[in-house]
Amino acid sequence: MREQRDLPWRRTRDPYAIWISEIMLQQTRVAAVIPYYERFLARFPDYQALAAAKEDDVLAMWAGLGYYSRARNLQKAARQLVELGGFPREHAAIRELAGIGSYTAGAVASIAFGLPHPAIDGNVRRVVIRLTGDADASIEVEAGALLDRRNAGQHNQALMELGAMICVPRDPHCGECPVEKLCGARQQGLENELPLVKAKAKLVRRERTLAVVRRGGKILLVPSPRVAGFWDLPEPFPGIHMGAGLGTFRHAITTSQYVFEVREASLAGRIPKGARWWDEASLGQIPFGTASKKALRCLETL
Ligand code: ADE
Repeated sequence: MREQRDLPWRRTRDPYAIWISEIMLQQTRVAAVIPYYERFLARFPDYQALAAAKEDDVLAMWAGLGYYSRARNLQKAARQLVELGGFPREHAAIRELAGIGSYTAGAVASIAFGLPHPAIDGNVRRVVIRLTGDADASIEVEAGALLDRRNAGQHNQALMELGAMICVPRDPHCGECPVEKLCGARQQGLENELPLVKAKAKLVRRERTLAVVRRGGKILLVPSPRVAGFWDLPEPFPGIHMGAGLGTFRHAITTSQYVFEVREASLAGRIPKGARWWDEASLGQIPFGTASKKALRCLETL
């Protein structure tokens, strides 16, 4: 928050003003929006004024911003608000207004009313996918888990700010990022690879196997080859006997779609260099790569 830009719609809690700003900011840069926002609010200071205006006047105030259906929907929604007698204070009801999708409903609900909803636009999606470090993470699940529910408006705008100023699509400014240390993509050196672009078309399918070797309440892990300080389940190595299948899961890493098979295994020879036995009871405290985390979930569901 300390570093946030001073933007005119951040000086108000008026849901009408916040809504106008969010609609203008769709497909349009902040710098281009500011003068339009100020003129529009001076001319139509509340939804009653917008509902009562002539459509031509509304479109004239919009001229130059493009995507004119946004302006027509604004007026339609303003008339809905007159019917309703006020701005609804619930995500689902806000979502019912003309021209308002999930993102805008989340933004207005959180910024104007402090309601605990994420607001996921392209910038926020990029930030969240990078933070998780997992190309195929569910964006809704991860954004919901990350949300500061008591400060949802500030939280959402902080993510927008990160996406606009620091966590930019190409060559993000990780050195200036306040959450660099928490960033899964950064830890894996994947900040330029995530989120995947048109990944589906280019994905190469590969198959891999992970081994679950247990002995006296302990499980064998190897240091992650990709992320220093992280641990993984081993892949088959000389002297291992692969046993029954425990489950399979998919995991995308950059342009590869892996199908992992998790199998029980026993040891006939020595453990590989760097490998260690870990107490199964302490698995919750060990930093795991994403694939291994998914593999361990296969164990939990046994
Ligand atoms: N883009 C969309 N909504 C925004 C907001 N509230 N602040 C900054 N940029 C945004």
